[in-house]
Amino acid sequence: MADHTGDPQHAQDTWVDEAMARLSTEQKAALLYGADPWQVRSPGSLHLHDLVMTDGPNGARGVTFHTGVSRCFPCETALAATWDPDLVAEVAAAIGAEARSKGAAVLLAPAVNLHRNPLAGRNFECFSEDPELSAQMAAAYIAGVQSQGVACCVKHLVCNDQESGRHTASSEIGDAALRELYLTPFEVAARAGAWSIMAAYNKLNGEYVTEYPWLLTTVLRDEWAWDGVVVSDWYATQSTAKALTAGLDLEMPGPSQLRGDKLLKALETGELSSEDIDRSARRVLRLLHRTQHRPMTAPPADPAALIREAGARGIVLLKNDGVLPLAVAPGALIAVIGSGADAGQPQGGGSCQVNPPYVSGPLSAIRARLAPDATVEFARGWADQTRPRPLTAQDIKIEYRLRGAPDSEVLATEYAVSLSMSWFNSVLPGYEPGDLAVRVTACIIPAENGVHQLTLAAIGHGRLTVDGQVLLDQRSAGGRDVIFDLGRITQRADIALEAGRPAELVIDYEPWSESGLLRLQAGLIPPAPDPAAAVRLAAAADLAIVVAEHPHGVETEGVDRPHLGFDPAQNDLISRVCAANPRTVVVVNTGSPAAMPWADLAAAIVQLWYPGQELGESLADVLTGAVNPSGKLPVTFPARAEDAPSWPYYPGTEEEVRYGEGLAMGYRGHTVPPAFPFGFGLSYASFRLGEASAAAMADGYQVTVPVTNVSGRDGREVVQLYARLADDRPFLELKAFATVHVPAGRTVPAVLAVPASRLRTWSGTGWRYLSGPVEARIGTSSADLPIAVLLGA
Ligand code: BGC
Repeated sequence: MADHTGDPQHAQDTWVDEAMARLSTEQKAALLYGADPWQVRSPGSLHLHDLVMTDGPNGARGVTFHTGVSRCFPCETALAATWDPDLVAEVAAAIGAEARSKGAAVLLAPAVNLHRNPLAGRNFECFSEDPELSAQMAAAYIAGVQSQGVACCVKHLVCNDQESGRHTASSEIGDAALRELYLTPFEVAARAGAWSIMAAYNKLNGEYVTEYPWLLTTVLRDEWAWDGVVVSDWYATQSTAKALTAGLDLEMPGPSQLRGDKLLKALETGELSSEDIDRSARRVLRLLHRTQHRPMTAPPADPAALIREAGARGIVLLKNDGVLPLAVAPGALIAVIGSGADAGQPQGGGSCQVNPPYVSGPLSAIRARLAPDATVEFARGWADQTRPRPLTAQDIKIEYRLRGAPDSEVLATEYAVSLSMSWFNSVLPGYEPGDLAVRVTACIIPAENGVHQLTLAAIGHGRLTVDGQVLLDQRSAGGRDVIFDLGRITQRADIALEAGRPAELVIDYEPWSESGLLRLQAGLIPPAPDPAAAVRLAAAADLAIVVAEHPHGVETEGVDRPHLGFDPAQNDLISRVCAANPRTVVVVNTGSPAAMPWADLAAAIVQLWYPGQELGESLADVLTGAVNPSGKLPVTFPARAEDAPSWPYYPGTEEEVRYGEGLAMGYRGHTVPPAFPFGFGLSYASFRLGEASAAAMADGYQVTVPVTNVSGRDGREVVQLYARLADDRPFLELKAFATVHVPAGRTVPAVLAVPASRLRTWSGTGWRYLSGPVEARIGTSSADLPIAVLLGA
């Protein structure tokens, strides 16, 4: 299959033509569905790799949930908070290399749904509430991942912006909001050359996305001229012929439920034509060709330093009365407080979760930086008693036997790194889950003395024993999202454990599930800590650092958050610590906005997000000033959930989610001043913006703004441009930004590119491009735009 034209596109087309000519109808049809949960087989005659897929976006887990470790990168919201596409591309290239090292050709990322409502469970997996910021981040992410020969699968097309009703509801939305807000990141991703896109579970204006010809063919193919592969979200395919003719190329996961022989039957009955099969088969072959040519020669370089840098660059300093950066006098006592202040939460929950090789916790990183000059002491003060955190254990062994034959020979043995186990359809290839008995053994070494609660969540039947004593016996049939919502199916039992004394854990598990999703998780609720001891420590300390977090599993795929707040007992602890020590820094370890009733009492507030495995190091870099904070909020932090413009329509019902706020979503529609506005973030330096000048370019405008660092500390500033797109719109919209590094006392120009293609509004049937003059304002947050400029004047 040689190509002599030298044109890569032509070479690819020729290769696809020749491959198609060699395949039978059956072989072509087999390219259109997963053979197993994570891969599509490529026909042997092509001598190519199989199309293996792995979840993202904050890492590349590989094809199992609980065996093998993967680096944990910052969540997408943290990446967007850097407002730095170059850094995001670098991080994404490292994620692509990680995917490649796991044999994957497709990374199921980035997620470009918008943070329409602050309570949506998967916000942390998505970049921003703003389409422009999301689009630029997505384009950078795609360039990074695909530079490694790994395809991005941009998800979840479209209006899949919440977990409530995500499998059933129809997102009811008008054309202007759909085009200008929710479709824009997908459009930019498609035009940036994403090699695949994932079609979401939900319906859009009454049609399942996976069988909507207008979306999958008219928009994606005819309007955007996109030549990639449309992959169904896992189990989102609704039909055989209708979905394929609408433009859904690939049904995932396998084994197939709606394709396989059903495709061939539909061909026989005339419901499908061979052109329908060929069209999608060609696209899948193109994807195989695109991802084929880079055999892994060496393991990827360790990205720890990059993760740490990106984690620190995403941190947003929300408040600082001067206590930061830390200036610690010799002999000082520093109190580190909070349920997660020792471990930290590096990531949110759901399909994107990875098992990191390690996590740098806040306590050890802060201690390493400040000791021995200062003494750093820890008090937990509060620990959630309602939801378990995954139980950490050593020597986790899984043995599979035939059910009902406990003494029979072991069919297979695996070693796991986590007691949080998930499977799709099959727990052991070649056996029905219902025929198997699974025994998990592990050793747990408690960190604390006292009465712990052990918990078990099993889809099927699970029995948990510690040191020979049966503690829990639990059955559940499971359901679609029960896999992520562990709270609903968890049983618990008290057990007194001794710090450091190993205990032997055995779980006997008989898998069975209505949905095909199988799950086994052992969890732990530590003894309730004494808040008074934490407050006493804070009072005695020279400075207190409190880490605020949500209980495990609150920010996750599968469920939305019940409210904007933290747990009341945790809020109470934070308020008491702030009252006991006026020099209290609150670190917020969440993936999306939380209400902070103690904000006025805290000396400083640091939004950490889910920054990945180097969490403690990234945080310590910012607290100590080794990194000058420059992150800006990619989402509005409302004071109350009710203030979000989508609130009156959220969450809707299982049948319908009405996007009634239309274009006035997020900062565009906030009528009540938020706690912290979109685009906001402080620095240890101070900057002054000069006069802006705009020049017309061939494809838009270039706006230049001098940025002067009027402080004694080097730092970065993010200059943001918001335009008024129509006279009848009471809001400005982000259209361009630039991140500049400005040394102390110097002036550096920020150069912002405003492509003409983005100065547009949707008017009924088509785009209206603004020829100018367009009124724009420039500043360093959506609420601080002192500089006016006219584009096209
Ligand atoms: C999620 C996707 C994910 C897929 C595979 C689905 O539940 O919505 O984001 O890629 O599972 O794990």
